[in-house]
Amino acid sequence: MFSPLKESIIGKAKDKGIIDIAVTDIRSFAKDKHKTADDTPYGGGAGMVMKPELIFEAIEHIKSEILNSKSETNSKFKNRNAKQKIILLTPAGKTFNQAIAKDLAKCEHLIFICGHYEGVDERVKDAIDEEISIGDYVLTGGELAAMAVIDALSRFIPGVLGDKSSSEEDSFSGGLLEYPQYTKPGSYRDKKVPDVLMSGNHKNIAGWRREQAVMNTFFKRPDLLPKAELTESDMVTLEKIFTEV
Ligand code: 6GU
Repeated sequence: MFSPLKESIIGKAKDKGIIDIAVTDIRSFAKDKHKTADDTPYGGGAGMVMKPELIFEAIEHIKSEILNSKSETNSKFKNRNAKQKIILLTPAGKTFNQAIAKDLAKCEHLIFICGHYEGVDERVKDAIDEEISIGDYVLTGGELAAMAVIDALSRFIPGVLGDKSSSEEDSFSGGLLEYPQYTKPGSYRDKKVPDVLMSGNHKNIAGWRREQAVMNTFFKRPDLLPKAELTESDMVTLEKIFTEV
């Protein structure tokens, strides 16, 4: 399931040795011949619950076999904050966002536990530091959520993105959505690129972009505005919207 992480930007970062990603199959720690990873819930009810002992053993295996060897052999991982976190992906976790991504990117090692079925045995929570969800909907398993989290946090690791500033400049930085972008051709199917972008006047371009970002956020994600870092001229933009709408 994790093959998407071998592609594109994350795959290249891995090839360059900037990040490393290893997958451990929880089921491989099962001792019976059917490799049982789940069982029926105590107290009854529908669905299955992931057994605690396999998850504990998987975590111990990762800590002793994988993390130690990586730190010793790869000095690139040593410069990073030595923090290590164990994260459970679950729809009951706190909702993932850009601030959490940035924070997780400071960790040297992260272990993501991907829950399945109706959930994991509650005792697993003793072994984890954080529970994260990627939104208010239910996936069949935590793997896609883990990949979303890994992708988003990797963008904050120096060297993963070519352009140094791009993880800071895109949507959500400063709490606003991004301004509209255009590339060549200057006119396409009767739709023209805004004149200001062709003007070469960098002050006007910056002003227009900021105004567009504020307006975009107001119309598409007004819930972001109370937490956004707004300037006086942003307030003027918002007042203009109020008087015009
Ligand atoms: Cl982290 N796991 C599952 N199974 N469903 C989700 C989720 C996680 N985040 C949103 N829905």
